[in-house]
Amino acid sequence: MSVVGIDLGGTKIAAGVFSEGALRSKVTVATPEDGGDAVVEAMAQAARAAMREAGMAAQSVGLGVPGPLDFKKGVIKFAPNIAGMLDFPVVAKLTATLGLPVYLENDANAAALAEHYLGAARGAESSLFVTVSTGIGGGFVVGGRVWRGARGQGAEVGHVTVIPQGPVCGCGLDGCLESVAAGRALERDAGYAYNTPMTTPELFARYRAGETKATRIVHQAAHFVGIGLANFVKTFDPEVIVVGGGVALHGGEGYMHTLMQAYERYLEGWQPAPVRLAKLGTEAGLLGAALTAAVEVGEV
Ligand code: BGC
Ligand code: NA
Ligand code: ZN
Repeated sequence: MSVVGIDLGGTKIAAGVFSEGALRSKVTVATPEDGGDAVVEAMAQAARAAMREAGMAAQSVGLGVPGPLDFKKGVIKFAPNIAGMLDFPVVAKLTATLGLPVYLENDANAAALAEHYLGAARGAESSLFVTVSTGIGGGFVVGGRVWRGARGQGAEVGHVTVIPQGPVCGCGLDGCLESVAAGRALERDAGYAYNTPMTTPELFARYRAGETKATRIVHQAAHFVGIGLANFVKTFDPEVIVVGGGVALHGGEGYMHTLMQAYERYLEGWQPAPVRLAKLGTEAGLLGAALTAAVEVGEV
C-alpha cells in the first residue's frame, strides 16, 4: 500500500509517495498564478510525476491546503495566497482528475501532525505548530488529534490582528500577523526598501551579509512572530511550540534570537512553552499531507 501526499503552497506544490513509513519520492512544481483548475492540473501532474519517480502507484491522496476549509464538502473556503480558490471544490476536482480518493487537511494542521508524531513534538501531550512561509499557519494537536475547529478554521494563527489598520492581508483584512511577518510581507517590504523586486532568499542573503535595511525588515518580522507566539501560549497553552516553514528555518540564529526576545518580553510573568524548530524541516507539510491519507487507509 502506498499513498501520495500533496502539499499545496502559495509559491510551490510538492508531491511525494509515502510507503512503509517513509517518503519514496519528491517532486515540486510552481503554483500556477491563475488559480482554480490550473492548480488542480498542476497538483495532478506533480502527483503523477511522484508516482513515476517512486515506481509505485498510490491508492489514495492526502492533500494539504493553505486556507480555511469546509471539511464536510471538501471545499476550500478561500486561500489567502492563491488566486481563484473561493469556495473551490478541490476534493471533487482532484478525485475526478486523478481517479483516486482524496483526503483533505489544512497544510499547517497536516504539518502539525507530522511534527507531533515524527518530529520535534514527539512525546508531548499537546503541541502547537506554527509555520512561517509564504503565509503563516498553525496546527494545534491535543490528545493525539489536530483541532480542526467547529468551522474548519481552527488555529488560523496567521490571521490574528497585530497592527489594526496595518498592511492589507491576502485574507482581505488589515494588519494580520501574516501581513506583517510572512514571506509575502518580507518581499513587499524588501521591494519598497530596495526599490526593486526581491525574493525572500535574496533578502535573507542580504540579511546574512549584515545589510542594515535587510536586518531591519527581517528583525521586525521576527519580532512580530515572537509576539504572536506569546499570544498563542496564552490562548492554547501547549506543552511545546514547534516553529517551521521556510522563512523561520532559513532565518538562522539572528532571526530566532529576535523572535525569542519578543516572545520572552510578552510572556513576562507568565509561563512560557519551550519553542523548538521543526525537525522535519520544510518537508513537514508534505509528510503531514501523506500521513493524512495514510491514517485513513490504515497505512500507519
Ligand atoms: C492560511 C493557512 C495556512 C498558512 C500557511 C495562511 O494564509 O490561512 O490556512 O496554513 O497560510 O500556508
Ligand atoms: Na491550521
Ligand atoms: Zn489575514
